[in-house]
Amino acid sequence: MCGIVAYIGSREAAPILLEGLKRLEYRGYDSAGVAVIHDGKIAVRREAGKLKNLVKAVQAEPLQGSVGIGHTRWATHGEPSERNAHPHASASGDIVVVHNGIVENFLELKEELQQSGVTFRSETDTEVIAQLIEHYAAGGTTLFEAVQSAVGRLRGAHGIVVISSHEPDRIIAARLGNAGGVAIGAGQGEMFVASDMPALLDHTRRMAFLDSGQIALVTRDGFSVRTLEGTAVEVPLQTVDWDAAAAEKGNYAHFMHKEIHEQVRSLGDTMAGRVDFERGEVFLPTLQLTPAVARRIKRVILTACGTASHAGMVGRILIERLARIPSEVDIASELRYRDPIIDRDTAVIAISQSGETADTLAAMDEARRKGAVLWSIVNVVGSQAMRIADGYLSMQTGPEIGVASTKAFTAPLVDLFLLAVLLGKLRGTLPDSERLERVAELRKLPGLVGECLSREESLSKAADALKDVTHCLYLGRGSSMPIAYEGALKLKEISYIHAEAYPAGEMKHGPIALVDKSMPVIALAPRDPWYEKMISQIEQTKARGGTVIAVCTDGDDRIPAMVDFAIPIPYVSWMLSPVLTIIPLQLLAYKTAVLRGCDVDQPRNLAKSVTVE
Ligand code: G6P
Repeated sequence: MCGIVAYIGSREAAPILLEGLKRLEYRGYDSAGVAVIHDGKIAVRREAGKLKNLVKAVQAEPLQGSVGIGHTRWATHGEPSERNAHPHASASGDIVVVHNGIVENFLELKEELQQSGVTFRSETDTEVIAQLIEHYAAGGTTLFEAVQSAVGRLRGAHGIVVISSHEPDRIIAARLGNAGGVAIGAGQGEMFVASDMPALLDHTRRMAFLDSGQIALVTRDGFSVRTLEGTAVEVPLQTVDWDAAAAEKGNYAHFMHKEIHEQVRSLGDTMAGRVDFERGEVFLPTLQLTPAVARRIKRVILTACGTASHAGMVGRILIERLARIPSEVDIASELRYRDPIIDRDTAVIAISQSGETADTLAAMDEARRKGAVLWSIVNVVGSQAMRIADGYLSMQTGPEIGVASTKAFTAPLVDLFLLAVLLGKLRGTLPDSERLERVAELRKLPGLVGECLSREESLSKAADALKDVTHCLYLGRGSSMPIAYEGALKLKEISYIHAEAYPAGEMKHGPIALVDKSMPVIALAPRDPWYEKMISQIEQTKARGGTVIAVCTDGDDRIPAMVDFAIPIPYVSWMLSPVLTIIPLQLLAYKTAVLRGCDVDQPRNLAKSVTVE
């Protein structure tokens, strides 16, 4: 959940570390710290609160040295304070650690160390790691060996980076389980380590990614990797093609706003090279989907968390309709503990922007144990969810920095559509003529998204109507039902307005009791097979004095005449309409949150990548 960065080279480390942390602040932002080695001593600066506090502290008391580590924290053990901020030092101050994850057996280890005379200065589990490494280093072993022994004692999932004043020419980095990535970046006479790529992109595109159970020794000139047991392993450098600029805000006030607008490009990118529009063909080679596997599958389970699970809800409808396979959506945190019925004829599709969400990875492990065909739809290349699957689809959206996911919601909608078409073709459930027609429609999707975005200003009045409410209701049916859930999630995440979503048909079974003037209803009513049903839902709401904001299709004159705010969007058939209907809802949430003065990119209590349970 936290961000880690480290540097070893000949330049001053502190500015590089602070710059790297800036790129990772979305991973955690309740405190931050850096440590740099100089003249055989390690100097540490830490501050509670946002990164700018740390920047000021370093300006006030500059740090010298060309080897260092940094951390931006999202608290798990101990309140967000200077004392609990990373880096954490051993008792002597000679060994300093930054860490991402939770030491599940930390109380037991802490007690053991306390009994041997160690005193602790923080409430964190991470300090145990620093003390444990010092304990093992005291036996005269190298730093690498001491880290190896210490990491071997830890339960849970971890990314760890360590420096020592006794061995100032190296950084040790370790990964255990799925607590986020550990990427090593290679420069000329300098090396970098980070939990996420955006921290490295300014410096290099040549990167290597540690697997679980691997420890790296990083020097100015390169790195070597061993397993926890000590076996040397070759971890190749890969060239990453994300542009450093893509991790910047550009002319937008917020990353979220920029990312909403990037959807024209990201949707084009996710189709690029995968679709022959003329012949209606879909190519998904990284999925490793053979005709035999397609015919064998008897059931599909889509598993994910948060926004990704809403993409799964749309995927379920598409796969059932086009490939005629019984499909369901299982929230990853539930699937992992339910002992679900999964066998080798079940395809489990994990959807994850980060590819590092702990619950999603655990659900994938469960599916793997039960012999399922395991696929993932992932944004972060090289992430765990991509690597442990039998096959994957990469979303191709580029880094998503805003905590509230937007472009990483629409890209998997297209990926799932492509998968449903391909399964339909291979299983013979989708006639060629229909396939041609459906695939042809895809081509115009990025342009139609651009059209929705160009109407942004027309949402200002609706945002104004929402900005002072405390509750609201989102309703949708059919393929718009998941969009009601996603729209409500967007609003609650960033504006802190309580927003609830319902399948519109459920309205009369309870939620209608809530409707009055103070409870706006956001209704999704595009021209689709459920349109007439939505009209009657809207009528029932209006009859009770509710304010209605409705997303409808261009040319519809019934809905604008009934509702308080109509948001027309271009027509597209119901299988693809979720990609369009969500656009005004993303913008509405964004505009409302801005009007309320909320911290849009870093909403309170949330983190981009939830690598703990
Ligand atoms: C967190 C984020 C959400 C995201 C969810 C799943 O809750 O704040 O935006 O949808 O995790 O993340 P993933 O990386 O697996 O898509």
